[in-house]
Amino acid sequence: MKIIMLGAPGAGKGTQAKMISEKYHIPHISTGDIFRANIKNGTELGTEAKKYMDQGLLVPDELTVRILLDRVSNEDCTEGYVLDGFPRTIPQAEVLDHALEELGDKIDYAINIDIADEVIVSRMSGRRACLTCGATYHTEYIIPVKEGICDKCGSELILRDDDKAETVLKRLQVYHTQTQPLIDFYENKKVLKSVDGTKKLEMVFEEICTLLD
Ligand code: AP5
Ligand code: MG
Repeated sequence: MKIIMLGAPGAGKGTQAKMISEKYHIPHISTGDIFRANIKNGTELGTEAKKYMDQGLLVPDELTVRILLDRVSNEDCTEGYVLDGFPRTIPQAEVLDHALEELGDKIDYAINIDIADEVIVSRMSGRRACLTCGATYHTEYIIPVKEGICDKCGSELILRDDDKAETVLKRLQVYHTQTQPLIDFYENKKVLKSVDGTKKLEMVFEEICTLLD
């Protein structure tokens, strides 16, 4: 099963993708997580990506596509995957489509997590992220057992550099102009499913599972 998570920054793509990955035993692939891991490890890719990410801008398609196609060609992806944060532009979606087509394959579901901008801004300031395993917490809604420490891998939790209020607003603007058109793109391909992202995360997950089962 090949799934794409769509939705604005902070809609809950990462949170739901992790849960889907665990339930359906398919890898969770987040381009944002890949970039953050590279920034943390001081790689050349990380240095390049950080220039854009810190401003709330998209990393250029060419770079992002290369990384994604490389990742999905790994052996753990043969049974499918859940993509979180990719594609984010029409050209990215077209490249992915084309690559899958060549394999006689296609995306099964594009799940759009629908949520208003106002809800997002308040959610982001409370988010805490683990840069080691990609787990996400929230100071009010998903509290780790030990404050500031990831339940899953024991690493320190941080406030992401791009979660400052002004960067979040920029990311939302970029989302509306460059990423939102993907909703129509996947609607036309008849694989789009929308869920209400303002509900409690367990309810959002239930809605997604009903669509997938
Ligand atoms: P990325 O890491 O993908 O960030 P994003 O899309 O902005 O999305 P977020 O990770 O911020 O939000 P999310 O939807 O995953 O929400 P989460 O589950 O954490 O990308 C970062 C940057 O990398 C981009 O800006 C760009 O520069 C670059 N990049 C990445 N991919 C790229 C690409 N393909 N092309 C070009 N550039 C790319 O949830 C948010 C918070 O809310 C959490 O604290 C969570 O605990 C909480 N929460 C979740 N669900 C609920 C709920 N139902 N109720 C209450 N709280 C909830
Ligand atoms: Mg995320």
